[in-house]
Amino acid sequence: MTARNIDGNALSAKVREELAQRAAVLTAQGAQPCLAVILVGEDPASAVYVRNKVVGCEKAGFRSLKYTYPADVAPQEVLAKIAELNADASVHGILVQLPLPKQFNSEEVLEAISPEKDVDGFHAVNFGLLLQGRKSFYPCTPWGVMKMLESENIQLKGAEAVVIGRSNIVGKPMAVMLMSKGATVTICHSQTKDLAFHTKRADIVVAAVGRAKMITGDMIKPGAVVIDVGMNRDENGKLCGDVDFASAREVASLITPVPGGVGPMTITMLLANTVESAQRALEAKSKS
Ligand code: GUN
Repeated sequence: MTARNIDGNALSAKVREELAQRAAVLTAQGAQPCLAVILVGEDPASAVYVRNKVVGCEKAGFRSLKYTYPADVAPQEVLAKIAELNADASVHGILVQLPLPKQFNSEEVLEAISPEKDVDGFHAVNFGLLLQGRKSFYPCTPWGVMKMLESENIQLKGAEAVVIGRSNIVGKPMAVMLMSKGATVTICHSQTKDLAFHTKRADIVVAAVGRAKMITGDMIKPGAVVIDVGMNRDENGKLCGDVDFASAREVASLITPVPGGVGPMTITMLLANTVESAQRALEAKSKS
């Protein structure tokens, strides 16, 4: 069997079109969605991510604010900006690009963002709400994966899902989201004794470890759905995922490529959270 690709660019374009329409309706009601992005330091990868977020906002008709600080900025200055943005009713989403320089306590910064504007879904309050199955902002990458599975009508009820990676940003929320849709979820990580034992029994494998091509075709159950969240460089400096695409696609039924798979969905879901936040703010205003 040769797997079919799940095209993240195509799905992303379709979802962004819907979001642009929602944004236009909100704008006409005087509530143009607005995302504020804070970038500290000169990390080139972070600068590219932030630029893509700003461009994504503008193309969808959102207002976009960007604040940049030198790497040696005092954390208080950034915290003061977050407080100002929290208090500004015209701002619906606040995002601090990670990683932050070492003088920062990232947890303190992320938790300074009002949970109602935490469109990254990283605040402990939002993570707690997600765990309890209550309304929150979902972290964008795992939510994007859920959208991809939904777009392919993948049966999650009763499915065996294996998530590789236990980060707060991807692995843990991914496992919770799959579980909430009825999958039986196993979380594997660097201490897992026999990774292949787990992956070989999985109907759905989500790889989010950050190690190039570590999941090979012989670790995949025939016909499985393989989602690759990894973004690495191979031995030739070429972009690649955590999955060895060439061998895995010979065994899987559906697979996400890198690039062009999960990647584009992350910013799309950030835009979705921002529209949702603008909508909630408008509804709250009309009730008060
Ligand atoms: N750094 C890498 N990915 C992300 C992300 O999704 N959000 C933020 N804020 N920082 C990141």
